[in-house]
Amino acid sequence: MNTVIETMLSHRSIRKFTQQAISFEQLDTILSAGISASSSSFLQTTSIIRVTDPQKRKALAEFAGGQQYVETAAEFLVFCIDYQRHFQLSPEVKPEFTELTLIGAIDAGIMAQNTLLAAESLGLGGVYIGGLRNAPKEVDELLGLPKYCAVMFGMCLGHPDQDPQIKPRLPQKVMVHQDSYQPLSEQDIAEYDAETSHYYQTRGSNQKTGSWSDHIHGRLSKESRPYIRDYLNSKGLATK
Ligand SMILES: Cc1cc2nc3c(=O)[nH]c(=O)nc-3n(C[C@H](O)[C@H](O)[C@H](O)COP(=O)(O)O)c2cc1C
Repeated sequence: MNTVIETMLSHRSIRKFTQQAISFEQLDTILSAGISASSSSFLQTTSIIRVTDPQKRKALAEFAGGQQYVETAAEFLVFCIDYQRHFQLSPEVKPEFTELTLIGAIDAGIMAQNTLLAAESLGLGGVYIGGLRNAPKEVDELLGLPKYCAVMFGMCLGHPDQDPQIKPRLPQKVMVHQDSYQPLSEQDIAEYDAETSHYYQTRGSNQKTGSWSDHIHGRLSKESRPYIRDYLNSKGLATK
């Protein structure tokens, strides 16, 4: 065990922040750590929009479905797939291939996780805001995203004003397969459902009944933002 791994193992999303700002030096370090992440084919396809304008923060909080911490966090970063800069370098680039959108989404996630981990290592906390994809066109317009640049998610960062429990993850034996795919064991899931039911019932806030399986049934048995393909296509992405 070392301090990096200890930080990773203590991760939990933070949704309540003190009013204390993140210093310029800390933010600079956090962003440098984020940008140091691996990059598919060294394409460097991510842009981060740091949103400081309170009116824009308010609008983004509403677009994300009324997530107030988007307004109150010390920092709010919006991670975008960005092939606009590549297009500016050479009008011959072809950002429309779905493979490049996958690359962009993967790389944005990797850069964001480096960013969050760096913040957590400094005693700060944060949460991703996929809720921005509730209203991608509105986010686009508000932030002036050009063609070939598409919003993926936001991230709140700040000084934690809460100390939530760690959310139990699926056990390694479910997530890690050796040599070939192993079907899901009912017993493993029953044990995990018992663990998550207990977590949901006893956690510090937002207590509820139900298990992880119930959560999955509720979350994945309905449509998932069916307009996203049209949004990406409207940005010139994933049309081929
Ligand atoms: C890409 C992504 C988008 C997310 N979007 C939101 C969001 O919009 N609002 C929110 O409160 N949490 C959001 N989360 C946080 C997850 O709900 C959280 O990571 C998950 O429940 C596990 O909890 P933990 O991070 O505390 O371990 C998002 C996480 C990821 C990775």
